Amino acid sequence: MRYDLIIIGGGPAGYLAAERAGHAGLKVAVAEERSLGGVCLNEGCIPTKTLLYSAKLYDGVKYGEKYGVKAEALSIDHAAVVRRKNKVVKLLTAGVKAQLKAVSADLYAGRARVQGRADEGFLVSVGTQTLTGQRLLIAAGSSPAFAPIPGLREGFESGFVLTNREILDLNEPPQSLCVIGGGVIGLELAGYFTSIGSQVTVIEMLDHIAGESDREMASLLQADMTRKGTRFELSARVVSIKEGEVTFEKDGGQIVLPCGKVLLSIGRRPNSADMGLEQIGIAMDRAAVITDERMRTNVPGVWAAGDINGKSMLAHTAYREAEVAVNDMLGIPDIMRYDAIPSVIYTNPELSSVGLTEQEAEKRGISVRVVKLPMNYAGRYRAENEDGRGIMKLLVDQSGRVVGGQVLSNYSSEFIVALGSWIELGLTVEQIRKIVFPHPTVSEIIREAVFAYE
Ligand code: NAI
Repeated sequence: MRYDLIIIGGGPAGYLAAERAGHAGLKVAVAEERSLGGVCLNEGCIPTKTLLYSAKLYDGVKYGEKYGVKAEALSIDHAAVVRRKNKVVKLLTAGVKAQLKAVSADLYAGRARVQGRADEGFLVSVGTQTLTGQRLLIAAGSSPAFAPIPGLREGFESGFVLTNREILDLNEPPQSLCVIGGGVIGLELAGYFTSIGSQVTVIEMLDHIAGESDREMASLLQADMTRKGTRFELSARVVSIKEGEVTFEKDGGQIVLPCGKVLLSIGRRPNSADMGLEQIGIAMDRAAVITDERMRTNVPGVWAAGDINGKSMLAHTAYREAEVAVNDMLGIPDIMRYDAIPSVIYTNPELSSVGLTEQEAEKRGISVRVVKLPMNYAGRYRAENEDGRGIMKLLVDQSGRVVGGQVLSNYSSEFIVALGSWIELGLTVEQIRKIVFPHPTVSEIIREAVFAYE
């Protein structure tokens, strides 16, 4: 079969590109070896959010007494939570399938490999079929990274060590869970399993959790999670894994931690191996496909979007990159900007960030004024958060433009996009002061911040 565009990978980058390109009239093929929707829909963003919502409800009641809510014999049925998760995933993947059908994109189930190039286009095999594409979009995503820790592979093979994929299908929560890596995945799942009663220990090699997030907020989040029962071992290095235990080094000594299961969440790697990319000479930076601001690779006619380019491994980045790639294919001027991409850790409370943090500004030598406010300045936050310790920060540069912001509070995932828009549009504090916010909302905290700026 001949196509205008062959897309390798049916995750957020792949399916969105197929939709956009299909709408524009291109004949599109999408090859997917697992399940349409990719990691995000099947074993990432969406399933974890269904789990976390159940935990939030449960915690809301468990700690509800200070809000006048009392319950007896409260329980959470993890197996039922997982069943609901499966239902949500099924519904949404069916939605993606329907969207592709609506634009007459052909779906090929199987592993795609680039076989080379002929006069009529790129040759891609999927199973026994060979497709020809005038253009190629590589959107094959990423997989959990594994470290050379003795016993890790064996533990993974026996089912003692899990990644974000396997852990979402556990029908019984482990009594104890050892999380290796205190980044986004580690924290979200540590929060869930702590809520539902597992004894969770997060082992992180850095001296702080939450990666590049604002340090002060990361430490407030850690304190909050600690109060709820999660344990943290920072500046700790896992040295070996054996069935039922993890050994790590800390402060010069070795500690053996018994645990029912291990979650490995130490980052992700682009899925570029065994795809035939070398057949057409795609330039790589280790496992990542190198792309420019229009998502072009070094080979004319080939674009790459999503985790495969290793730039910002987020579904919403993938969406935008896919749009930029398709626009470029269609000759519509567009470029990808990475400086106003929001990121959210969906713990309870959520930690949302966009643009520069104080630490990043300092590292880059950018002089910024920081407005920092307690979340309690927002009436709605106060109404809904007894003992709330959330804060927000707004970073403003010398010209009065907003260049960054972070919010540690629930709902922040829903309004961080406002801060992102200010950055994207280059708005100044003066301009933002004229924007009307609905009252009472937690989002009003960012309006308070632009007025607190002097
Ligand atoms: P991550 O990069 O967020 O965090 C990994 C953490 O593991 C880091 O703090 C690192 O210092 C630590 N680490 C690395 N090797 C270690 C070792 N041997 N021992 C102990 N600690 C070690 O990676 P994570 O959490 O696996 O997430 C992967 C990707 O998925 C991220 O790029 C993230 O953007 C994306 N993601 C995004 C979500 C969101 O937007 N809410 C949710 C889940 C994942």
